[in-house]
Amino acid sequence: MCGIIGFIGEKEAKNLLVEGLKRLEYRGYDSSGICVKNDLGLSIVKNLGKIDQLEKDSRLSSVRGKIGIAHTRWATHGEPSEVNAHPHCDCKNELAVVHNGIIENYSSLKKILEKEGHKFKSKTDSEVIAHLLEKFYKGNLAEALLKVLPLLEGTYGLAVIAEKSGEIVVAKKGSPLVLGIGNGDMFFASDQTALINHVNKIIYLNDNEIAVLRKDNFEIKNINGKNVNYEIEELKLGAESIEKNGFEHYMLKEIFEQPKSVKSALTGRLNKDGVKLSININLKKIERVILLGCGTSWHSALIGKYVIEELTNIPVEVDYASEFRYRNTPIRDSDLVVAISQSGETADTLAAIKKAKECNAKTIGIVNAVSSSIARECGTGIYLHAGPEIGVASTKAFTSQITALILLALYIRKERGMELDNDLLKEIASLPQKLILSLESCDEVEELAKKFKDSKNFIFLGRGFNFPIALEGALKLKEISYIHAEGYPSAEMKHGPIALIDENMPCLFICPHDHTYDKVLSNIEEVKARKGKIIAITDKTDDKLSSIADEIIYVPAVHPILSPLVNVIPLQLFAYFVANMKGLDVDKPRNLAKSVTVE
Ligand code: AGP
Ligand code: GLU
Repeated sequence: MCGIIGFIGEKEAKNLLVEGLKRLEYRGYDSSGICVKNDLGLSIVKNLGKIDQLEKDSRLSSVRGKIGIAHTRWATHGEPSEVNAHPHCDCKNELAVVHNGIIENYSSLKKILEKEGHKFKSKTDSEVIAHLLEKFYKGNLAEALLKVLPLLEGTYGLAVIAEKSGEIVVAKKGSPLVLGIGNGDMFFASDQTALINHVNKIIYLNDNEIAVLRKDNFEIKNINGKNVNYEIEELKLGAESIEKNGFEHYMLKEIFEQPKSVKSALTGRLNKDGVKLSININLKKIERVILLGCGTSWHSALIGKYVIEELTNIPVEVDYASEFRYRNTPIRDSDLVVAISQSGETADTLAAIKKAKECNAKTIGIVNAVSSSIARECGTGIYLHAGPEIGVASTKAFTSQITALILLALYIRKERGMELDNDLLKEIASLPQKLILSLESCDEVEELAKKFKDSKNFIFLGRGFNFPIALEGALKLKEISYIHAEGYPSAEMKHGPIALIDENMPCLFICPHDHTYDKVLSNIEEVKARKGKIIAITDKTDDKLSSIADEIIYVPAVHPILSPLVNVIPLQLFAYFVANMKGLDVDKPRNLAKSVTVE
């Protein structure tokens, strides 16, 4: 999803803004632009394509100024193009705006503005903001913006600058926006990774707040123009958290970080007496758990269902956040609704948790990005502490989400006076070691990728705790290698998908030696009988399997509840190697965004 960044201070803004846009690239985009203010007016350069192209644009070389705003766009209204790239200006090019989000009533606003004589240059929804500002701007940018914001329906994280003003004014509603307090300068950005090495203090703006940024001070106001209190937080991330540290891609670095990130998820929360979580909700009376998420986070929610039901006997429902928010589903105050999100900014998940709160359900967040919108909306929960996940394809956040869900299940058990299985606790504590062993399959998986990289389709199959891993393996492969892939419960093959099986259809079975192993062997036989290519991920050598599988990747044997964590690693590596061998952009796959902050 798009990124915005801005600077006001005593340094030249241009290079700071371009560097900031590069830090925001991972969010996903199709075009970019920059606007810098100087005594001659507003200098704007916009480009379709990558930041590199903006950086090489000859028009940028002459840009000077110490106040600027910049944008990476992920198009929602108006095709990706230079004219539709942000910043957008008013008719007189004296005001400029960058916007992340969707102005849902832009069409009616645009009609009114055009009737009043405003000339639009782009097909975007965002441009209406610039022309509305033009209507109300009489020299005070904040005053003008406070008149515009009530007219906007939808979401925004936006910033505006004016030729005649020495301020930047930003506003937030539904899209992320963080302020950075420097020494004699101020920054703002969509997320804190763009501020690393520039500031140590940050402030997360809340919805319906604006901030007026000047080079050596700032004010935060509510939508009525009243100054509000704010909390200054420390920016804890260091440069190493956004570097590749010798890996070719962020995704590979993050796959190999998983022993460390799972350890971080466990640190301080697991001890010999059980689980310690800072969840300020009484879970004793919970009668149902509802797990919400999108994409990979929905897959971890599915695993959470199996784990929480297994360990607490509480019924668990799993819902796509985008479905939950629009369905007339009964929500009770005895429900615990859990929002799972790496970015903490996914628009559908944020809206879903707001709906749950309106129905008086108890809410918790399982989130990676600290102080993100979903984390703050939930009010309490479990941070993943996985560090920034830059690769668009989620990997370390996924295994940390599963770890957090296991901890939540154990915590509920403890809260309800149920005894804890010490052997399981010991196995959970040894998870980082098990993941290191699972990563040792890397070379075999790379060889496997060479054999199957030209496949046109793929089927992933698993049962029980590993059915969601089949779904996750399919998503990883399709989202970065663009190969069509599906995941199914192994037994489901017979109910339709088996019609797809022939010698060109590779089938990857996740088959640890658990209580369903023999059943999965039968499913493999059914595919084998139809000449399907069989790849097996398993935890023990077995003559029967060796005699029917074409390829076998071994992972460590673990408690069934922990098997998703060791089984997903070869699937992440497989998707990575296939995509890389195909010469694709592994970290920034086409059409995708790291954080989907629009609906
Ligand atoms: C996963 O690899 C994808 N990048 C995507 O499905 C992602 O999981 C989804 O957009 C949810 O994001 P979130 O966890 O930040 O809410
Ligand atoms: N809706 C705006 C556009 O399409 C902003 C999209 C974004 O958040 O990048 O230009």
